[in-house]
Amino acid sequence: MRRAATALRRHAASSARWEIPGAGGDASNHRFVVALDVPRASSCARWIRAASARCATDDAPSPSSSARAQQQQQQQQRRGYAAATDATPAPAGKVDPSSAAAASRRAMSALADKYDRTLVENIYRSSFKNQTGVSLKYMLDFGSQPIHRQLMVSAQFLHKELPVRFAHRVAELENLPLGLSSKAQVQTVRDWYVESYDELLKFPTVKTNEDEEKFTELIKRIMERHANVVPMIARGVLELKMEMAEKGGTRPGTGKKGLVAQINDLPEIQQFLDGFYMSRIGIRMLIGQHVALHEKDDTRGEDYIGLIHTKMSPLRVARDAIDDARSICMRQYGDAPEVEVFGDESFTFAYEPGHLHQMLFELVKNSLRAVSDKYADSDDDPPPIRLVIAEGAEDVTIKISDEGGGIRRSGLQRIWTYLYTTADSPLLEMDEHTPGPVVLAGYGYGLPLSRLYARYFGGDLQVISMDGYGTDAYLHLNRLGNVQEPLP
Ligand SMILES: Nc1ncnc2c1ncn2[C@@H]1O[C@H](COP(=O)(O)OP(=O)(O)O)[C@@H](O)[C@H]1O
Ligand SMILES: [Mg+2]
Repeated sequence: MRRAATALRRHAASSARWEIPGAGGDASNHRFVVALDVPRASSCARWIRAASARCATDDAPSPSSSARAQQQQQQQQRRGYAAATDATPAPAGKVDPSSAAAASRRAMSALADKYDRTLVENIYRSSFKNQTGVSLKYMLDFGSQPIHRQLMVSAQFLHKELPVRFAHRVAELENLPLGLSSKAQVQTVRDWYVESYDELLKFPTVKTNEDEEKFTELIKRIMERHANVVPMIARGVLELKMEMAEKGGTRPGTGKKGLVAQINDLPEIQQFLDGFYMSRIGIRMLIGQHVALHEKDDTRGEDYIGLIHTKMSPLRVARDAIDDARSICMRQYGDAPEVEVFGDESFTFAYEPGHLHQMLFELVKNSLRAVSDKYADSDDDPPPIRLVIAEGAEDVTIKISDEGGGIRRSGLQRIWTYLYTTADSPLLEMDEHTPGPVVLAGYGYGLPLSRLYARYFGGDLQVISMDGYGTDAYLHLNRLGNVQEPLP
């Protein structure tokens, strides 16, 4: 019977995929924020070089002094990133803000080749503004106000906040290391941000219910436009990785051949992806929250404030995620190990169930795969996976334990890097025109994205492995909801 399952698995492997729902984009649940709004000093030189010939003169706006101070602070915060990016990074604290601003101006002028100059200048200005983070608790408190007031205040907030967050993205996408900015997929994504920025800026001040209605339609369209951002960027990074592998893994600026064979190991790319996807989770959370408040779906019951379930049972969400993960496992392997759940069904707390579902789905899927692989040719029944929910004072912790053989210590360091996977990746089959939500399967995105979802609301994710035996994943959720969005 095991052998039949193995044969079926091999057959299915060519057609079925491990999916990350929401990563392709339907979801109500992504969010983001961000900003390399201004280039770091050390990357300025590169940016200036890249943008040089086409550069505009000095008539573009200059940042205010407070923007410069903020910029300097951000530059210092990103020292690690900058040091990894350039062979000779500028000493921390010795940043020349005027040259940073000049570089920003120049990069924006490259955009002016394609877009109206006023639009580009507006983006440039917005990219110097601070983003405003919110917390889960804030979203809940906000939900106690009369609904028409919530909608109006929320729309007005988003009308101001989203363009700032989009402008930060544009500036960042124009300033990626290792030539990533010039990849077609990255430019397509940048264009989506520019277009969304433009539409928001053209939208008049939200004053009436009718304005709010139209504004909600607009942000829904924006959410659809950005649905494929994750796989598009993944594809761009993969192309860069292949290109570098072809060139022998030489890292620009070092001249040392073979230093970097795998882009997986490039910290600047990992750091960019972490910030970028975190930012995306935030934006999608904010938009999703507004749309959910607006649509006030009665079928979801009274206990929802927008997307947030004020009495979410983690155990019920876990059962759903397990069902979904097992059915994909069945499809791919022809069978699926059992998953035992331990926890109090009556325990509830306020959280976004879509986020929790996504994280548990990913973790259970990983365990199912490990156990199925380990027992593929065995006559023994696979041992069950165990999911335990613990209710603490500050945290709700969910542990997922499997006996799927664990992860080698050499691989353990890389499980948090994007694109690291031991499965076959379908990424190469995708092109930039692939329509609709694209499935992410074997992309090596499950763990790093799940950790971002956990951190978004102040939690975390840890994976501990016993090589040769099995893996424990600990998902910590902050049940107080008092942590503000981490704005990268
Ligand atoms: N429970 C687990 N047991 C064994 N290996 C695991 C487990 N979870 C993750 N891994 C390893 O980590 C890699 C990355 O996981 P993930 O980020 O979810 O990407 P993907 O599942 O697409 O490969 C997997 O390919 C696998 O090698
Ligand atoms: Mg996975």
